[in-house]
Amino acid sequence: MESELRKFQEFALQAISSAQSSADLEHVRVQYLGRKGQMSELMKGLKDVTSEQRKVIGQVANEVKKKVEAAFSEREKTLEVGERKAREDEEWIDISAPGTASAQGHLTLVTQAIEEIAEIFSQIGFVQVRHPEIDWDWYSFESLNMPKTHPARDEWETFFIADGDKVQTGEKGKVVLTPHSSNGQVREMERGRMPIRAININKCYRRQSTVRHSPMFHQFEGWLIGENVNITHMKGVFDYFVKQFFGPDRETRLRPYHFRFTEPSFEIDISAEKGKEDSKLYKDGWLELGGAGMMHPNVLRAGGLDPEKYTGIAFGWGLERTMMMKSGMNIDDIRLLYKNDMRFLEQF
Ligand code: DAH
Repeated sequence: MESELRKFQEFALQAISSAQSSADLEHVRVQYLGRKGQMSELMKGLKDVTSEQRKVIGQVANEVKKKVEAAFSEREKTLEVGERKAREDEEWIDISAPGTASAQGHLTLVTQAIEEIAEIFSQIGFVQVRHPEIDWDWYSFESLNMPKTHPARDEWETFFIADGDKVQTGEKGKVVLTPHSSNGQVREMERGRMPIRAININKCYRRQSTVRHSPMFHQFEGWLIGENVNITHMKGVFDYFVKQFFGPDRETRLRPYHFRFTEPSFEIDISAEKGKEDSKLYKDGWLELGGAGMMHPNVLRAGGLDPEKYTGIAFGWGLERTMMMKSGMNIDDIRLLYKNDMRFLEQF
């Protein structure tokens, strides 16, 4: 039995020193020293020997066990140190290394254009104002000299807010998604601050969805109302805006037109970019930008102003269209601007 114990010691020490990880070592421990391990098995033999031999063997067994246990804890420590070091090496980070920047987006094209346009007008004293985009018939049409049954209204392809089939009405008529930024005109006059020099940029809605029309789009609309305001002021404002926005060599032209809420009314054209006069974009070297005019006396009256005392200019243009004209952006469907397709948006 003694020699078996020695052999046990030899194998156990061998196994301990060849264990390569704490997990290996734990297996070794169970195998040799565990409750059902080899040592316990060996000790069962004690009951078959004389008490004389038992004393000697008991001593040897103790000695062996101590040695194996000592070797075990020694190896355990060594392995743990090694493993901790390996973990530290693996988890080490260089906190002085430059970071990885997360991807940065940018404002959408439309927001960029809104900011740029508002900034240009602010340089000539126009404050940016906001008015409701869900509004009453009165502000969207009637106060703008478009009586209830007037056919001119048809052009505005209006969405009405309905509950089932029943169009909602409020204090000032039917409720609409405003089809143009002009709904702010009388609202701005009602604020009662004169003179008015404001730019209203907002979403508009029309029942139209084609490559050239998105059912939701933006307009920017300016108003200058005060005493002695006249058409030369209008021309001055347009020239300033167009040169700032499109470039110093661009010019504006007023072309007679008709709107119910202005008298006289105009369409504003801008001259072609130099060298591109023959492009299909232009007609005889000019491109239409949007509508404008001197505010109709009925509109001023609707806003509580005396048309004998005050006059005003008003102009309203499509924002997406103006923006696309500037960049020369040639997109074949305006609705792309609102599809949120990253492949499109990331190009700008
Ligand atoms: N509201 C008009 C439209 O949606 C545009 C417009 C024309 C606005 C003339 C004006 C204006 O302020 O004076 O087509």
